[in-house]
Amino acid sequence: MSTAKLFDLTGKTAMVTGGGSGLGRIMALALAEAGANVAVCSRRLEVCEKVVQEIEVLGRQALALALDVTDPESVRQGVDKVISHFGKVEILINSSGTVYETPATEMPLKQWLEMIDTNVTGTFLMCQALGRHMIENEYGKIINISSSIGFKGTDPEAVDSVGYTTSKGAVMTLTKDLAVKWGRHGLTVNSIAPGVFQTGMNNPEIPGTLVQKAGPIIASQVPVRRLGEDNDIAGAVLYFASAASDYCTGQILVVDGGLGAK
Ligand SMILES: NC(=O)c1ccc[n+]([C@@H]2O[C@H](COP(=O)([O-])OP(=O)(O)OC[C@H]3O[C@@H](n4cnc5c(N)ncnc54)[C@H](OP(=O)(O)O)[C@@H]3O)[C@@H](O)[C@H]2O)c1
Repeated sequence: MSTAKLFDLTGKTAMVTGGGSGLGRIMALALAEAGANVAVCSRRLEVCEKVVQEIEVLGRQALALALDVTDPESVRQGVDKVISHFGKVEILINSSGTVYETPATEMPLKQWLEMIDTNVTGTFLMCQALGRHMIENEYGKIINISSSIGFKGTDPEAVDSVGYTTSKGAVMTLTKDLAVKWGRHGLTVNSIAPGVFQTGMNNPEIPGTLVQKAGPIIASQVPVRRLGEDNDIAGAVLYFASAASDYCTGQILVVDGGLGAK
């Protein structure tokens, strides 16, 4: 296969949770640019519809749907709808996620559960629902978005969310375990662990986000001296979504400008 073909997604279909905003939107557009048709889902249908319009401009087919990853019935219906619309789904990106910042001693159970439900259970339910379909077809590429702060402890001044860091660590273990269990069925299951990206839940215009609080300080500590940008996540997702990564599974690709290497 030629090197260009390795990354070509023509004829493939991807489903992207959280695809209506932030990193999910950027990854949905990157997959479409590489040739894939894309189903874009999250709870807010209207934001997904906007991304579908952007994908259609690229000449690909796209479908927007409202889906709550914490609700097994919503996941089942959404996955069934995407499979019946496109016939086959080869790529799943789990980008849905949520964060609440509250000191560990004060964190209400409701916040903890919402982060675990969305970030861990939601990722599992999507992997399970589309995993069955992919196993039947003996082919699938699953990419779970974790976080560079899911590896270890984080100073409360940076991100004060024990529920979030715990959930992202769990996403990494879920990824590795499914990779081992499903490799024999033709699936790869990998994770991207982004560092600090100036988008989505790190929007510099939203008070209290990490980038709004300390964007320039963080950028000055990152070895490559900047925050994450669109192309950084696009390149990572294309690797895991394409034939380029066929011999790579159960891996966590940290995209953090080298911060975790310090
Ligand atoms: N930006 C960063 O610096 C950064 C760093 C590390 C990791 N991450 C991870 O990257 C992923 C995307 O985050 P982002 O920065 O792009 O923020 P974002 O724009 O807020 O994306 C989160 C997405 O999750 C969706 N979502 C939340 N709860 C959901 C639910 N119950 N069911 C379905 N969808 C749900 C939201 O859409 P609805 O509200 O419409 O449901 C939204 O599209 C997250 O997993 C996040 O933890 C981000």
